Amino acid sequence: MIHGANLSLLGEREPAVYGTMTLAQLDAEIAREAEMLGISVTTGQYEGEGEIVGALHRARLECEGVVLNPGAYAHYSYAIADAIASIAIPVVEVHLSNTAAREDFRRRSVTAAACRGVVAGFGADSYRLALRALAKKA
Ligand code: DQA
Repeated sequence: MIHGANLSLLGEREPAVYGTMTLAQLDAEIAREAEMLGISVTTGQYEGEGEIVGALHRARLECEGVVLNPGAYAHYSYAIADAIASIAIPVVEVHLSNTAAREDFRRRSVTAAACRGVVAGFGADSYRLALRALAKKA
């Protein structure tokens, strides 16, 4: 599970858009879902683009799949898109908010094109759905 830029501030960050759940609470929900699915999950949050690229590289050696919320990098990071395309394991992109229904710049995800699929708009459930999709594929 890779959480990208600014997701460390969940809970206090634009609660009308992203809700009041903190990242620690979200990670606890994710861990509960993983336990139900019988899979193990490791999570990390990274503010930097290069750190996310590095986490994707490591994941290819340590994991069977990745759930990734790139944050705003989704909208312009070709380095992260290339990293996703460079690794053989499936990556599912998630967004808490429905990016298609927001500002113009959020409507396009350059990273999504390299992903196996995308789940957006369901808050914490976006992550649960992505985990389920990966658990089926793995
Ligand atoms: C987000 C949507 C992005 O547009 C935004 O930059 C974020 C959060 C989401 O989860 O809804 O940081 O990825």
